[in-house]
Amino acid sequence: MLVVDYGAQYAQLIARRVREAHIYSEIVPHTASTEQILAKNPAAIILSGGPSSVYADGAPSVGADLFQAGVPVLGICYGFQAMANALGGTVAKTGLREYGHTPVNATEATSCLFDGVPAEQVAWMSHGDSVSEAPAGFTVLATSAGAPVAAFANEDAKLYGVQWHPEVNHSEFGQKVLTNFLYEGAGLKPDWTPGNIVEEQVARIREQVGSKRAICALSGGVDSAVAAALVQRAIGEQLTCVYVDHGLMRQNESVEIEKAFGASTGGAKLMVVHAEDIFLEKLAGVTDPEAKRKIIGEQFIRTFERAQAEIIAASEGEDVAFLVQGTLYPDVVESGGGEGTANIKSHHNVGGLPDDIEFELVEPLRALFKDEVRAVGTELGLPDEIVHRQPFPGPGLGIRIIGEVTRERLDLLREADAIARAELTAAGLDREVWQMPVVLLADVRSVGVQGDGRTYGHPVVLRPVSSEDAMTADWSRLPYDLLSKISNRITNEVDGINRVVLDVTSKPPGTIEWE
Ligand code: XMP
Repeated sequence: MLVVDYGAQYAQLIARRVREAHIYSEIVPHTASTEQILAKNPAAIILSGGPSSVYADGAPSVGADLFQAGVPVLGICYGFQAMANALGGTVAKTGLREYGHTPVNATEATSCLFDGVPAEQVAWMSHGDSVSEAPAGFTVLATSAGAPVAAFANEDAKLYGVQWHPEVNHSEFGQKVLTNFLYEGAGLKPDWTPGNIVEEQVARIREQVGSKRAICALSGGVDSAVAAALVQRAIGEQLTCVYVDHGLMRQNESVEIEKAFGASTGGAKLMVVHAEDIFLEKLAGVTDPEAKRKIIGEQFIRTFERAQAEIIAASEGEDVAFLVQGTLYPDVVESGGGEGTANIKSHHNVGGLPDDIEFELVEPLRALFKDEVRAVGTELGLPDEIVHRQPFPGPGLGIRIIGEVTRERLDLLREADAIARAELTAAGLDREVWQMPVVLLADVRSVGVQGDGRTYGHPVVLRPVSSEDAMTADWSRLPYDLLSKISNRITNEVDGINRVVLDVTSKPPGTIEWE
């Protein structure tokens, strides 16, 4: 299933909702031609909403030929209007802007799109223009106060459109309308299940790697653990996992990762590389966030290359051609993988790779969202502690120290972070909170008083967030008692930190990490 992205923030959401209906979906930019779209051989297409008016200069349009290819199409909001426009309907400024919860009334006409949906439903609208006349051959299925044609269908041609946003939760029967289109309109089978994903990926990995060797960058997080377990299942002994201790991990993390390793990867071979000194040496004096990310990314690769040389030497010269990474779909999109998307940060496993990389990448999770990765992990039999581990970024504490990264600062942050995490766990909130970075403002100092003395210490920031997929996030409303306990313990127990502050910014406009 393809989602054509007309520049709305909703395209990702549509793709997710389609996958929740167990149908594989991908996003393509609206700049793709009909030929390019059809070359992907889609079983169905959804045209997303978008910010333009179909009459605006340079507004993205859709060719009428897309609707003649026999592929079922659902147009949503802008996509609905672009579809009407392309097929000879009329889109007009009614002067009646609709925004937010809007009652929508079904007409007498019947369509599979509305199976199981009541005659009146509340839908989420966001539009100025409206379709005032459906194209020839189309039946009007619904109306609203501001949209004389709020939904239409050409059942024979399998073409459908709705003015509202079925992908947002505020649309009462949104998911029902989407699944009606997918299962009944387009006749798709809900077979995108964790079991099938595993089967498909294992076959793909076997085909890609053949009889060669691969190494896996194991970070201890759920993504790399699931990637490793998938590759382990596909090629067994040909895989060696490499865990780089870059000195930017949290307290006891390396020891715990080694311990959990056997269970988390189905018994793959593990090589631990201690590289703290070289990472810290390279990071000395560096304060720019992007520079830090690039350095850490490059050092990762260099360390793997050394591990590769050792593995080759130990396996009598047999080459290691592949590097397994747990790159996810949001990483790909946020690193500029989708056309027209801004490069927000260089995620070390995508944009931060040096140009002269000598491995071919194996990225079995590249098309998956986080919740899908967790489902695949469970399917592979990984323990809950791994599958539900909160995310931790590859560059580790290196991007949670604002300012230069030094050994002393890392120790300070590790202590504070361990307290915050322990208290969150004790409060039973690990699953509710997506993650809670603790950030050290290493170049900021403030005056405090402790005992009878003046202190001049650093602040740490607590950044608890709730999220579904890290693409957007809200700050978590942690209980005051918990915040107070964390603050008291950190300021009392960590020498050098005399203030704890709370980040109450959502994403956007903030990102989850500070760098
Ligand atoms: P941001 O800060 O972009 O983070 O809102 C979104 C999610 O990604 C994690 N993150 C990373 N993960 N390598 C990773 O593997 C990275 O370079 C990286 N940077 C951010 C972050 O912890 C959050 O879960």
